[in-house]
Amino acid sequence: MNKKQLKISTFSDALSQITDGMILGIGSGSTIELLVPKIAEKIEHEQLSITGVCTSNKTAYIAKNLGMHIIDVNDVDYIDLAIDGADEVDPQLNLIKGGGGALFREKVIDAMAERFIVLADDSKLVDYLGETFKLPVEVDKFNWLLVAKKIEAYGQLQVERRLANDIPFVTDNGNYILDITLNHTIDPYEMHEFLIHLVGVLETGYFLDVTDQVIIGTQNGVNIINK
Ligand code: A5P
Repeated sequence: MNKKQLKISTFSDALSQITDGMILGIGSGSTIELLVPKIAEKIEHEQLSITGVCTSNKTAYIAKNLGMHIIDVNDVDYIDLAIDGADEVDPQLNLIKGGGGALFREKVIDAMAERFIVLADDSKLVDYLGETFKLPVEVDKFNWLLVAKKIEAYGQLQVERRLANDIPFVTDNGNYILDITLNHTIDPYEMHEFLIHLVGVLETGYFLDVTDQVIIGTQNGVNIINK
């Protein structure tokens, strides 16, 4: 199976957790974009009442076009279940997210959910966060370069402003993304604490202690890892 098929192999275990009346957090990225039509099908087929809250404008657009009921996060007090992808998953089920630049809204929605599950193919499993993926950090445009220099100075780390088609990538919130090359000596909790207190940083792509379950597609079948 290729990566797309591995992602799709996780869907039935995720869909079975969606039940009538839920407020559902709907994540971002290629995995979730494949999942959303399946959620819409399930709602239609089983005549469910599901309200969705989305972590990106793109996901909301796709879901609304499929006829799903999508509302603003400020209009809900809680989320029953959030489903999202990830860029890396470590053995403690801590994550790096933000490959699509939606990390701030993902953190708001995934962290407020009563239950948060992650769907991924097995290439996302790592021994330590930063092994295969740079850490995305969302920063204000005003002082982004000053923030980047502070991060570089903190641990002699390489920091790049994300580009898309050769121009700076801008998030749904109107900010830039800095991508930090990590190494195995960096403690995610300490690094997050350092970053989050820099004036100009909105959020980091570390998702620590929030995941309840990871559903992994592998060549040998689906592997479910519970917290
Ligand atoms: C979006 O900002 C990300 O956090 C995605 O959830 C993550 O990059 C996973 O994306 P894929 O589903 O495309 O692998």
